[in-house]
Amino acid sequence: MFFIINVICIVSHFKLEAGKMLFLIRDCDVSRFLKSEWKAMQKNVLITGAAKRIGAACARLLHSKGCNVFLHYRSSKAAAMQLCYELNQIRPDSSYMMEANLLIREELEALASEACTAWGGIDVLVNNASSFYPTAIADVTEQQWDELMGSNLKAPFFLAQSLSATLAENRGCIVNIVDIHAERGLAGYPVYSIAKAGLVAMTKILAKELAPSIRVNGVAPGAILWPDKDFSAQEKQDILQRVALRRSGTPADIAKAAWFLIKDANYMTGQILTVDGGRTLFY
Ligand SMILES: NC(=O)c1ccc[n+]([C@@H]2O[C@H](COP(=O)([O-])OP(=O)(O)OC[C@H]3O[C@@H](n4cnc5c(N)ncnc54)[C@H](OP(=O)(O)O)[C@@H]3O)[C@@H](O)[C@H]2O)c1
Repeated sequence: MFFIINVICIVSHFKLEAGKMLFLIRDCDVSRFLKSEWKAMQKNVLITGAAKRIGAACARLLHSKGCNVFLHYRSSKAAAMQLCYELNQIRPDSSYMMEANLLIREELEALASEACTAWGGIDVLVNNASSFYPTAIADVTEQQWDELMGSNLKAPFFLAQSLSATLAENRGCIVNIVDIHAERGLAGYPVYSIAKAGLVAMTKILAKELAPSIRVNGVAPGAILWPDKDFSAQEKQDILQRVALRRSGTPADIAKAAWFLIKDANYMTGQILTVDGGRTLFY
């Protein structure tokens, strides 16, 4: 109420001062507009794999836009605690964190449930967590298959399933972080590539199945952050030679694309937004 009165006072003052205004917005319209804009930004978001790198960049950007962010992590507890603390320093109770191995169904369900109760519902699910490592075809083990498929495909599906009621109630959305290599597999990474191709297919079918109440889209990053190992300096150079913009992207580039899909893409569903500096132009 105090906020609304303040807005009315400011607007009234503005009306008096700005005698030359061509049109005036009625006070109640202003407060309704401001309220709806704030609600549009103050979304409750669950981000998987949010402690570091791209997931953390998404958390920081969405939080800076007014969202509450529920940070999921598996082993990066210290980084998750630091980020959660940092965000709560900015706005108290705007961030929670929880550990879960997404390969374990009970832990996944507990994560969905805790995220729902934190602020009384979830508006946005960002499926970001992912295992990524090479698997030579001849040597792929069942455990590797389960881990790569589990983190990149199965977990996003069951999280979407578990959260579909709250997402529908809030006319929410899902953003799946896929990969440009979903389309043309990355040499040496067949299982990861198959999993991401599945996640693209899942994005499209869930967009149909969950419509009209939930939008489902994806962001396909190109070369953003190198993994800690597995890529030599020469391999990195070779990849960047085939990027039109001749440089890698930043986690913030992916976060901005995710925010666009969440906030502004009201008439988009079932789409994949490629953020690759023009890498796919060179196939
Ligand atoms: N980096 C790039 O250039 C690039 C390029 C194309 C696509 N992408 C996609 O963008 C997303 C983020 O990339 P990134 O490089 O920032 O990811 P990342 O650092 O490789 O992984 C993100 C997080 O996933 C979590 N995770 C992995 N397996 C898990 C499991 N079984 N259960 C729970 N959490 C698990 C890990 O959490 P803990 O650390 O807490 O264990 C990890 O920190 C991924 O989906 C990736 O495929 C990235």
